[in-house]
Amino acid sequence: MDYANVRSLEEAARAVLDPVHYDYFAGGAQDEITVAANEAAFARIGLVPRILRGAARPRLGTTVLGAEMSMPVMLSPTAFHKLAHPEAERATARAAAAAGVTMISAMLSTVAIEDIAAEARKAAPGGAEPSLWFQLYVQPDLGFTEAIVRRAEAAGCRALVVTVDSPALGRHERNDRNDFHDLPPGMRCENLRELPGEGLRDLGGRDSGHVRQVVLSPEISWDHIAWLRQISDLPIVLKGVLHPRDARLAVENGVDALLVSNHGGRQLDTTPATIDRLPIIAEAVQGQVPLLLDGGVRRGTDVIKALALGATATAIGRPAVWGLAAAGEAGVARVLDLLRNELDNALTLCGCASPQDVTAELLTTMEGPH
Ligand code: FNR
Repeated sequence: MDYANVRSLEEAARAVLDPVHYDYFAGGAQDEITVAANEAAFARIGLVPRILRGAARPRLGTTVLGAEMSMPVMLSPTAFHKLAHPEAERATARAAAAAGVTMISAMLSTVAIEDIAAEARKAAPGGAEPSLWFQLYVQPDLGFTEAIVRRAEAAGCRALVVTVDSPALGRHERNDRNDFHDLPPGMRCENLRELPGEGLRDLGGRDSGHVRQVVLSPEISWDHIAWLRQISDLPIVLKGVLHPRDARLAVENGVDALLVSNHGGRQLDTTPATIDRLPIIAEAVQGQVPLLLDGGVRRGTDVIKALALGATATAIGRPAVWGLAAAGEAGVARVLDLLRNELDNALTLCGCASPQDVTAELLTTMEGPH
């Protein structure tokens, strides 16, 4: 079976997934207003192509924080891939590495970061070093946090993506309705094993609920970012920046890049669509650090819109999970292929020869009901 677009992979994933797990992946916080807004906002932006530019066939590659990417699309961190497919993050890592796509590996992965890195290395073309970044929820227990950072470093991760939109877990009513609060037997967060400190307290026992293993704490502050900077030489990316004042503070605090994100609508409901926040964040940082964006990216045209509004690259969350659930590694590869082909086509139709050619002059507001 072939898949015409990301939507058809979601349909295929839905057909094979346990409905409770589908709800976990697809859902968001409360009324899911933000989940819907992320995609709807892209549809409200129009593209006005330039013509007769004699542009070369597009080259899609870009570089972010020294990482070479075959296209300006990365994989955002999503937890618990084993719920989607038995090969879990192993399959995702292989597909990403084979495609030259940066994978931001979730701290709450169901395969250990060392194993994810090993799979990525196997799959990277021509023995190239794959681009793997590590997503971190800073824990109030700094010993625990430092231990997991060391593991990510030793595994070869090349940036720390610190998720800062999660001082608490958003209210996921679908999970409540489904009474889904724990990983099924035989699955666990492999990165949290064998680490010292409080984060381990619940591990290993029958009662090791996936939420209870990790502390999402409102105590986390800019001091923790300064501390991370002290203990690690890896570039630091803040994930979940929506306010321009925070974007400024991030630059002033020496953060290396920002990922404009509302967690795919899974944290604070009614946060605006990320693509609608991007211009104000871009204005705040004045090009001092690269901007990344996730939330609702489903088409090559969405990528162009994000680039035009100031992003260096975009990232996808759910689409990779749909690919994984539908067809394992081949499914993730198909998602990346689709986005690559769509981006190539859309760039060509816009008269652009590269992502760097994309500017705001291509944008307008769509008229009519959207
Ligand atoms: C996420 N996201 C996420 N983010 C993060 O920093 N750590 C995590 O563990 C997770 N886990 C997670 C699980 C699932 C099932 C989803 C859908 C999302 C958020 C993710 O990184 C990203 O911000 C959004 O998914 C982007 O939106 P789209 O592409 O899903 O619309």
